Amino acid sequence: MEWTRVALAAVFLLGILGSSGAKVEEENPEFWRSKARQTLQSVLDRKLNTNVAKNIMLFLGDGMGLTTYTAARILKGQLQNQPGEETVMAMDTFPHVGLAKTYSVDFQIPDSAATATAYLCGVKTNLNTIGVSAAARNGVCRTQKGNEVTSIMKWAKDAGKSVGIVTTTRVQHATPATTYAHSASRKWYSDADMPAAAKEDNCTDIASQLIRNIDIDVIIGGGRKYMTPRYTKDPEYPWDLSSWGRRRDGRNLIQEWQSMKTGKVAHYVWNKTDFDAVDPEATDYLMALFEPGDLRYEVDRDPSKDPSIVETTEKAIRILQKNPKGFFLLVEGGRIDQAHHAGRAYMALHEAVAFDDAVAKGLELTREEETLTIATADHSHPITFNGFPFRGQSILGKSPLWGTDFLPYTTLMYGNGPGHKIIDGKRPDIRNVWGSAGFSSSVQQPHQFAAGLNRAHVRPPSCKTPSH
Ligand SMILES: *[C@@H]1O[C@H](CO)[C@@H](O)[C@H](O)[C@H]1NC(C)=O
Ligand SMILES: *[C@@H]1O[C@H](CO)[C@@H](O)[C@H](O)[C@H]1NC(C)=O
Repeated sequence: MEWTRVALAAVFLLGILGSSGAKVEEENPEFWRSKARQTLQSVLDRKLNTNVAKNIMLFLGDGMGLTTYTAARILKGQLQNQPGEETVMAMDTFPHVGLAKTYSVDFQIPDSAATATAYLCGVKTNLNTIGVSAAARNGVCRTQKGNEVTSIMKWAKDAGKSVGIVTTTRVQHATPATTYAHSASRKWYSDADMPAAAKEDNCTDIASQLIRNIDIDVIIGGGRKYMTPRYTKDPEYPWDLSSWGRRRDGRNLIQEWQSMKTGKVAHYVWNKTDFDAVDPEATDYLMALFEPGDLRYEVDRDPSKDPSIVETTEKAIRILQKNPKGFFLLVEGGRIDQAHHAGRAYMALHEAVAFDDAVAKGLELTREEETLTIATADHSHPITFNGFPFRGQSILGKSPLWGTDFLPYTTLMYGNGPGHKIIDGKRPDIRNVWGSAGFSSSVQQPHQFAAGLNRAHVRPPSCKTPSH
């Protein structure tokens, strides 16, 4: 294959030119062997921690699969002017590592609702459903009753601990919602988002469950518009109709929450100034909703208007850790996933780096002797890392190799979503292409197959990826 020769020649040539990316000490074998000895010794020196955890911090990188994790590690180093690959993330320092199978009861690839039910409630369930067992059906309110499953947040609260959620999405989104809500559909953010049949069958929207199901001490994220009545102007974007309140039942859940906390020190804030003024030592409850919907991406964030995930994580821990019985906190880097859905690796990786910074802050503020800290993801994304880029090359850059068309390609690529292949105005027709076992009739018509989903993974390449 001629292109292979060309490509290999390019690697060889550029490999010589590019070898300056490595550090001189790395040419010494002892450098690596002593590193290995140190790593081994630190593992051997570790005493197994058999204490009962008083506190639990669960850091959840939504959609942060292993490729994202590796690429984010490199970006984190490169943001500090290092080659990047050798960077040690906060998450890399954890003493125990494991892998989990993430399928849902009904799909090979799960969504954030089914996975959250699995890791928060301990029960695998159906796609799109929140805090219910697999006996409940996606979007069918009648199947919900009696099939609710409770989460670790409820168990922690029942044990006298303080509890909180911190997210970069709206607080009614799948991951945080599963700590407190039971819903046959993850999309029932407010009553306006529910079909009439579900309301007639007495299902309630996720936002209303936020203030009712569990007495949550700290709620930080976005999602103001699901809390207020229709036509309520948003305080930050009063001119933007899509930011206005959505509720049709006339309820103002923020005000209801405030009156429920009478006699306690409870703060509702929607901007950075008020957030900074919250004294964690003197605060019992905090609800902070910084956007009408999801928060801004970290790279788009105005630090004078909205706090970072590091700041919100710190505030939450400082409020929660006053409880002598301990706390449970979920911190979600929720927009890693959303950026991937949009095919925006730059955004996704910066979100993942910010998420790792939040993990570091959590470790800094707590003691390992009494705190169980878990950092994990709920599912992966169709992002690939390819093409033999040199050591230290920008993770967001191009491969030094080129394709058979003699054109360069990016190191990171998406298996679906925007950027797909179009031939004669259509995507490639594979109806008469037959694969190996498992390429069954149900996969022949991917449009129909994917029609009921709200995740990108199983969508055909020409489908638009959804925005959440
Ligand atoms: C819904 O609640 C109303 C009022 O409590 C009750 O009459 C009705 O039977 C309930 N519907 C269902 C499907 O449970
Ligand atoms: C922050 O919110 C408070 C309460 O609504 C408001 O009084 C204040 O003007 C806001 N500050 C900024 C900078 O928007």
